Amino acid sequence: MDPHDNPDALPRSVFQPATLGPVLLRNRLIRAGTGESMADPDGRIGQDYAALHDNLARGGVGLAFTGHIYSHRRGRYGELQAGLDTDDAIPGFRRVTDAVHRHGGRIFAQIAHAGSQSMSFATRPLAPSPVDNVMTGRKVCAASDDEIHEAIDAFRSAARRAVEAGFDGVHLHGANGYLISQFRSPLTNRRDDHWGGSQENRDRFPTEVIRAIRSELPPDRGLTMKVGIADLVDEPGGLSVDEAVQGVARFVAAGLHGVEISSNLMSDYVSASIRGYVAVGPKEAARDLLLHRLHRTAEPEAYFLPFADAVRTEVDTSIILVGGIRRVATMETLIRDGRADFLSMARPFIREPDLARRLSTGGQTSPACVSCNICLMHDEHHPLQCWRIPRTNLLRHAAYRFSGGFKGKGSGRKPTAHEDE
Ligand SMILES: Cc1cc2nc3c(=O)[nH]c(=O)nc-3n(C[C@H](O)[C@H](O)[C@H](O)COP(=O)(O)O)c2cc1C
Ligand code: SF4
Repeated sequence: MDPHDNPDALPRSVFQPATLGPVLLRNRLIRAGTGESMADPDGRIGQDYAALHDNLARGGVGLAFTGHIYSHRRGRYGELQAGLDTDDAIPGFRRVTDAVHRHGGRIFAQIAHAGSQSMSFATRPLAPSPVDNVMTGRKVCAASDDEIHEAIDAFRSAARRAVEAGFDGVHLHGANGYLISQFRSPLTNRRDDHWGGSQENRDRFPTEVIRAIRSELPPDRGLTMKVGIADLVDEPGGLSVDEAVQGVARFVAAGLHGVEISSNLMSDYVSASIRGYVAVGPKEAARDLLLHRLHRTAEPEAYFLPFADAVRTEVDTSIILVGGIRRVATMETLIRDGRADFLSMARPFIREPDLARRLSTGGQTSPACVSCNICLMHDEHHPLQCWRIPRTNLLRHAAYRFSGGFKGKGSGRKPTAHEDE
């Protein structure tokens, strides 16, 4: 028997096959959800989106999560975001999954709803309660019971379309301040009906969404969730780690195969989720013309590990660790010691789509990405790419930035700390 038929019999290593629920992956490396910003005004994707995922699969990654895909027009985050809100999205995604499968890769659709964090001013966002969005300041009304059921149905239909498009599974976006995070946090969910009040009630919306998606997935497809473990905002009284972990147990009971660990509500992306200069020493900074790093401190690797440990102690499910996963030596330790089952990376795969192969052959021991976050500044402004290579991209970035290109376009987010080159 080929030992790859029974991956549990293999030693635990980053570069050995492993199963995530019913889905066999060729290794434990995952491309984390990273918004591609490649869709047209109707949310339809083209050849560049398929080419990006073709490259990742060709480059040896075990599994790719797509960037967040809106399930309902009102849940659209930005104007360049892809959607799975209608059946005419299916053929475009079919081309993506076919390309990935040709290279032996696997791909899950990350289905999302931005809630009040939508930066698309063409939509009227949905929210559990009339609380201004902490990041965007956007004003919202409380959703009616019918609107909540409509959102659940939209997730269900998006999952059905994902199956028809040939995805190997669904990765539900339940973190980083979007609609599910808003339902889970006492700061943004002030309802006193059965969608709010107690933590169990605040977890009802995601639980119903998971059940609805599960009902559409054949047994051979995976279901995972990016889940927010604690609100990382200045205001006190937010979702605590203990409450969040109890929620994870509920979600796993409702049908998840694994969870990717992240933050819940955030006051900004960089301090709470996409930290700068991870494990970048002065030498790497100088080599990559990263002058800003020379007067900043590097962030540590694997910065969501304490959250992952909290989940691991209480809940029996596959743990996908994201957030500053960098050196192969660290990866192997995390997997060998059982602190994570899979490791996902976002920025490193933007710069090096073939990173999985480079690391597995031993020629390279860490990614070239220096977590400068320029790619994040361009999210929803330009198609996803690394802005440090080729070097002329840095000039294009500077010209766009200093011509005021980020104001009032796309996400319209203001640069924050570490997004300041
Ligand atoms: C440009 C950009 C776009 C992102 N888009 C998404 C997204 O669509 N969905 C998501 O769950 N996370 C998104 N993230 C967050 C990443 O998945 C990841 O959690 C974060 O970047 C930390 O991982 P890293 O240190 O490997 O980059 C994005 C990050 C970046 C830099
Ligand atoms: S612009 Fe390039 S180097 Fe900077 S964080 Fe993005 S991928 Fe990494």
